[in-house]
Amino acid sequence: MNKTLRPAVIAGNWKMNKTPAETTALINEIKPLVVDAKCDVIVCVPFVDLSAALDATCGSNIKVGAQNCHFEKSGAYTGEISAPMLADMGVGYVIIGHSERRTYFGETDVTVNKRTLAALESGLKVILCVGEYLEQREQGITSELVAMQTKIALQGVSAENLKNVIIAYEPVWAIGTGKTATADQANEVCEAIRATVAELYGKTAADSVSVQYGGSMNAANADELLSKPDVDGGLIGGASLKATDFATIVTAASK
Ligand code: 13P
Repeated sequence: MNKTLRPAVIAGNWKMNKTPAETTALINEIKPLVVDAKCDVIVCVPFVDLSAALDATCGSNIKVGAQNCHFEKSGAYTGEISAPMLADMGVGYVIIGHSERRTYFGETDVTVNKRTLAALESGLKVILCVGEYLEQREQGITSELVAMQTKIALQGVSAENLKNVIIAYEPVWAIGTGKTATADQANEVCEAIRATVAELYGKTAADSVSVQYGGSMNAANADELLSKPDVDGGLIGGASLKATDFATIVTAASK
């Protein structure tokens, strides 16, 4: 992390876990443990839990995010949720382009771009996910691939709005597998993403963008990952569902 240039951000991605009642309980457990955080703390919860999360976090330093949004404002899109709906509720953040959405729900770089633009237009902050499959890493194309994903996702995003974008590097092979990228691997790709942002927006803008690492980050490995200069935080799956583990990661990012 380089906190003189950009904020450290720890976000929990709860994925498809927790009912509204369980959401209230988990947030009430997390709240006192992160009250002194010196980094941004976000919980990204399922749509049906947003209301409970907003109530439970009210007056605290925890911010609330969703895990996806549609690119149209409204219309005949059964089962979808739009960015203005989220913004109107008081939701502050939305994850866009998570690899699980790309893999299981047909998300493409083009729809990631459309959702990013829609979210920003509604005043949401975007956690934009990029990352490679294992075969792509083995083919030696990780840097090119994340550069391409980043460039397409940010097409049409103004320099002003870039301030509302956090980028999360999540190697697909490290998600939910217990196989963490080494701190050096994580830093190398986060640095490559920052270089891509510099190409698009200039060095000052790139220095200000927070780039998170995600993929089996946990209480035991967070310190080492977050000690790297280009790793500005974490997008945490499994470990974000345990209050003490999540809080330990927040503490590591607060150093
Ligand atoms: P895990 O931390 O469970 O590997 O999940 C990472 C992730 O996908 C966060 O978005």
